[in-house]
Amino acid sequence: MEIILQPDAESASRLAARLIARLVREKPDAVLGLATGGTPLLVYRELIRLHREEGLDFSRVTTFNLDEYIGLAPEHPQSYHAYMREHLFRHLNIPPENTHLPEGLAADVPKECEAYEQAIRAAGGIDLQLLGIGADGHIGFNEPTSSLASRTRIKTLARRTVEDNARFFDGDASKVPRHCITMGIGTILEARRVVLLAFGKSKALAIAETVEGPVSANVPASVLQHHPVAKLFLDEEAGAELRRADYYRWIYANKPAWQQDA
Ligand code: GLP
Repeated sequence: MEIILQPDAESASRLAARLIARLVREKPDAVLGLATGGTPLLVYRELIRLHREEGLDFSRVTTFNLDEYIGLAPEHPQSYHAYMREHLFRHLNIPPENTHLPEGLAADVPKECEAYEQAIRAAGGIDLQLLGIGADGHIGFNEPTSSLASRTRIKTLARRTVEDNARFFDGDASKVPRHCITMGIGTILEARRVVLLAFGKSKALAIAETVEGPVSANVPASVLQHHPVAKLFLDEEAGAELRRADYYRWIYANKPAWQQDA
């Protein structure tokens, strides 16, 4: 894992966006795995700026989102379909048919999950997967004790996740769906690169456990210790519980020039 500690979410997000932009420039038909939640918003803002001001071209890019709530139509304002349209897709020149999210109203959920996995395979796999992290260490909606080999499937949200996400549903936890379709941890691990973002002190414990704790299904993000190219972009607050923070800063400060943005 590479730990990139930045003073604030803005600078961490700019670096993460730069990495994505570089991939898209080098591989115009890149397959991006995307995330929702509050955390990736600044990365999306920066990608939109790069598209508008520097001509970053998304016309051949394909995307797969991590997850979607079961029971919410794509038009529902709190659906992840709506989130992605609002915060990213409508601002880029990405063809809508190149963007994929699990279907929250699928009549046959297992069939939808298998089709999603198949679509990722057919696209050639994910080049770069963007991730946030839940305060309990979840990635996608893979809650603690999710199988580390899991594939796209139905999950029940943990109570804490329901409560954390209530802020997007007028603060009313009873409006938060209880189920979702999420890429599995095994699915995420197959992405060729993983970029995880975490900001704020509510993520500090999960980040310390992810980076410096044992690999455990209790902290799903800790499985990224097994990923060959996982980069964590953190602000100081999210990195506050890391015991080896000075070491991570040292590595970053001494990074060879040719490795920058790699
Ligand atoms: C949600 C999403 C995750 C996200 C996490 C953190 O439940 N399914 O993909 O990373 O919670 O959300 P936030 O970025 O809003 O803190």
